[in-house]
Amino acid sequence: MNKKTVKDIALEGKKVLVRCDFNVPMGETQKITDNARIVAALPTIQYLLEKHCAIILCSHLGRPKGEFKLEYSLEPVAKELSKLLGKEVIMAKDVIGEDAKEKATKLEQGQILLLENVRFHKEETENDKEFAKQLAQMAEIYVNDAFGTTHRAHASTAGVAEFLPAVSGFLIEKELKFLGNAVADPERPFMAILGGAKVSDKIGVIDHLLEKVDTLIIGGGMAYTFFKAQGYEVGNSICELDKLDLARNLMKKAEEKGVKLMLPVDNKIGKEPKEETESKTVKCTEIPKDWEGFDIGEETIKQYKEELKKAKTVVWNGPLGLFEVDQFAKGTNEIARALAEIECITIVGGGDSSAALKKAGVEEKMTHISTGGGASLEFLEGKKLPGIECLLEK
Ligand code: 3PG
Repeated sequence: MNKKTVKDIALEGKKVLVRCDFNVPMGETQKITDNARIVAALPTIQYLLEKHCAIILCSHLGRPKGEFKLEYSLEPVAKELSKLLGKEVIMAKDVIGEDAKEKATKLEQGQILLLENVRFHKEETENDKEFAKQLAQMAEIYVNDAFGTTHRAHASTAGVAEFLPAVSGFLIEKELKFLGNAVADPERPFMAILGGAKVSDKIGVIDHLLEKVDTLIIGGGMAYTFFKAQGYEVGNSICELDKLDLARNLMKKAEEKGVKLMLPVDNKIGKEPKEETESKTVKCTEIPKDWEGFDIGEETIKQYKEELKKAKTVVWNGPLGLFEVDQFAKGTNEIARALAEIECITIVGGGDSSAALKKAGVEEKMTHISTGGGASLEFLEGKKLPGIECLLEK
């Protein structure tokens, strides 16, 4: 990475504003259901503690659309972080209000303050200059470690860098190392598995990866748009009719580039997207009118697993079926297990794929699980990420 990190700047005893991505999944009672993003922020925080910094953390949580909403408070994050660090985390009642400013001013070296959800202000997502300036005025140095939010040009992820010396934390450095190496100089065969509901969400990444990979494996809801583009009946399956030409162009590009594009050959279909629904497995060319495809079928799983055995690098983003429903989770779970068994570099992005790995109990076996969903996709698309662009050059 050609950007400065916390290691490249004098930090001793400084007051530092750190943008984290504490956008963690919450259960109904504001209980954190997966603390991975908080755990991922610890190395930078611990390093700043070693350097006797006064640490002001900020993050968004969900999309509260510019107003205070209790269910989007970062209070549970402060508690979880405090538990993980074994240290007090002071919680501010607001972001740039009286309470935050007073606590930030009084903050001493070795203390940690967490500001409230930056998206309680609409100025955050508008990347408002004045808002960014007020955040910046609380500290002397800005550290961005919110990899999951680097694709957003918001006040706390990019705007603030205009007013403070800006460097990255260890999480961003690590993410860029793994994702960057995987794409720039992959050990071959290099394969990508792309799933998820819509082709439209993945156009950029399919297009970009077709320049890089040896094999591209498609699953999830977007496969049905590819079927339809070839003239097959897809029943009630999710299908983007306005993307048929695009799917055809992507297939053509794969052929031109010599990329092996693998689409499902059979599917598990059902009447409704729920556990109790009637289901069966059919060839991908034989989906009846009032049925819907919810998972890849047995033969597809077999073919995908065989292909993956040859891989030396695999990038995976997006589930291969409706994995939230057990009877349609087999494709995703089997591919997760297959990845755990092969000797190769495995890079996984996106909340759903990570959840599937967790469910299959094979998280530890992956080389790298990215904390970024949208951010890792945009990176794989070859896009510039505003949260990284704004940092100081080395
Ligand atoms: C994410 O969960 O992908 C990031 O935290 C970004 O959240 P956003 O899509 O609401 O900007």
